[in-house]
Amino acid sequence: MHQTQRTRRTVMRTIAALTLGALVPLSAAQAADKVKVGLMLPATGTFAALGTAITNGFKLYVDEQGGKLAGATVEYATVDDESDPSKATENANRLVTRDRVDVLVGTVHSGVALAMARVAKSRDTTFIVPNAGADDLTGSLCSQNLFRSSFSNWQPAYAMGKAAAERGHKTVVTLTWNYAAGQEAVKGFNQAFTEAGGKVLKDMALPFPNVEFQPFLTEIAALKPDAVYVFFAGGGAAKFVRDYAAAGLKDSVPLYSSGFLTDGTLKAMGGAGEGLITALHYADGLDNPKDKAFRSAYAAKYGMQPDVYAVQGYDAAQILHAGLKAVNGDVKKKAEMRKAMAAARIDSPRGAFTLSPAHNPVQDMYLRKAEGEENKVIGVAAKALADPAAGCAM
Ligand code: PHB
Repeated sequence: MHQTQRTRRTVMRTIAALTLGALVPLSAAQAADKVKVGLMLPATGTFAALGTAITNGFKLYVDEQGGKLAGATVEYATVDDESDPSKATENANRLVTRDRVDVLVGTVHSGVALAMARVAKSRDTTFIVPNAGADDLTGSLCSQNLFRSSFSNWQPAYAMGKAAAERGHKTVVTLTWNYAAGQEAVKGFNQAFTEAGGKVLKDMALPFPNVEFQPFLTEIAALKPDAVYVFFAGGGAAKFVRDYAAAGLKDSVPLYSSGFLTDGTLKAMGGAGEGLITALHYADGLDNPKDKAFRSAYAAKYGMQPDVYAVQGYDAAQILHAGLKAVNGDVKKKAEMRKAMAAARIDSPRGAFTLSPAHNPVQDMYLRKAEGEENKVIGVAAKALADPAAGCAM
């Protein structure tokens, strides 16, 4: 055969092989090569910094594993949810239907997360919540596909109510943003505070994410409670604490909160947060090796100290990894993967935790005191606290 004919035949055969190869469906081994993660978090608005910290934490863990979890390369699709519940269903659908993510991760705002849960459930997409505390997510909406790496709104609030009563206070006024997280936090605080014999003089609220606190501060001064409990976070929290101090209340009426008030916000408070006591599932100065390693890796990568949101993002990736390990990185084996996620023991910077039957962390609630830019651990307000998971049937 002539040389050019032989070359032409080889080329034809190669083209045919390549074409055939393209038509052959991916084998299981090839399909397991990647996992697509949809990060739906706030990049703008009062919770923007919280979204960044969660993203940083999640990516730090994945990068520590060389960009792969159990052999599957992690790819990301992202959307800024703006902490806007009215856009939540459309945003979640973009990730689940258009981008075809295998796993949905998000978000900060409870109202947005509740809408995401419905989308994830309807498409049977694995959903990991790295912050939003809406009690229903691991309560009446609990589901095989839904996991939380953070907390329920009830958990730190209940622990704070217990600790406030133990500190000898008999009366409180509460103030929060009027949406699921604020309402549930106040409910949890009031439950523990009244169980211990305390009295709630008044519950007050303003629309999310408003920061016109002045009328409420005037009313607190008039009501003269022993203490005040609030739920605020992010940029709004920094503004509230500055206003509380400027109104002259800080020295006369002790202020308590779920620890979000002072996590990641002390710097912006410019000293107004000094000495505040809060309850949360993370603190500065936890003396465990995992936390020390996490904090130095985070500081080295991002040039700043992590906060509770970074921890929750890191642990969301750890929960996913636990699931993928059980299926050799094949995210399509949903049932098996979820079983392993539910059973995982997570070696968290906050201290090791397991998930409750409703898939919410069973965890210690620390008592913390703000010192400089740190929320220093000063005790444990509630040990291994499990959310009651009201209405969860799974
Ligand atoms: C919530 O909406 O559930 C939420 C938002 C910010 C926090 C904590 C909880 O820091």
